[in-house]
Amino acid sequence: MPASGEGADVVLRAVGKRYGKITALAQCDLHVSPGELVLVTGRSGSGKSTLLNLIGGLQTPDTGEVLIDGQQVWGGGNLAKQRRELVGFVFQQHLLLGVLSARANVEVPLIGAGVGRRERARRALDLLGEVGLADRADHRPEQLSGGERQRVAVARALVNEPRLLLADEPTGALDSTTAERLFDLLYDVRLSRSTTMVVVSYDPVAGKRADRTLVMADCGLLEAGAATAYAR
Ligand SMILES: Nc1ncnc2c1ncn2[C@@H]1O[C@H](COP(=O)(O)OP(=O)(O)OP(=O)(O)O)[C@@H](O)[C@H]1O
Ligand SMILES: [Mg+2]
Repeated sequence: MPASGEGADVVLRAVGKRYGKITALAQCDLHVSPGELVLVTGRSGSGKSTLLNLIGGLQTPDTGEVLIDGQQVWGGGNLAKQRRELVGFVFQQHLLLGVLSARANVEVPLIGAGVGRRERARRALDLLGEVGLADRADHRPEQLSGGERQRVAVARALVNEPRLLLADEPTGALDSTTAERLFDLLYDVRLSRSTTMVVVSYDPVAGKRADRTLVMADCGLLEAGAATAYAR
């Protein structure tokens, strides 16, 4: 295993995923190098969320393999622990816990990771500050706007300093200025910690911050430019 602070190496080889008669992915190949920020676009229903779920071990491929640092880590024992230590996930639907404050939601990945109560609170408040929500730490999700919830979800995904960040439309509910700030934060995190990032987004600012843009089309990934007809 590489030293902490170094991003994960992600390889998908001939990955296929079907839902009944629907083929979401077929023969999908991908290599994301440690510290790379890859942007994924493509029309709605083209399989982008499925791709992130497969990389993050939330779904298993029907065919092919997903390798993190050259190993098939997903599917072995103690999946939850592996995932907690390796991956930060920003879900398309935020998935915040309604009974918890913003701060407590951000702390969730640190619970069970051996981080003390005060340190958890400090890190959560730091990150809430980074996403512009220092004064909303005590609000529950229902007391936050959609874009504020989205930013809490980003803070939660970063709080355990993951080696791999998977983000599904992390700025979908944000105005262009707030979105740009959030991508600046991702960019800074990736520069300082070499975090590998796979981000699904249609945000124009995302393209400026990414090393590469890929388009999901025909159940696989193409370099942007090769498939502009599919881009939304
Ligand atoms: N659990 C499921 N059961 C059946 N079909 C599914 C399931 N999840 C996704 N699909 C189908 O698989 C395809 C890929 O879905 P996916 O959510 O990966 O697309 P997406 O590119 O993320 O779309 P969007 O941009 O709208 O979020 C879609 O046609 C969808 O209807
Ligand atoms: Mg999706």
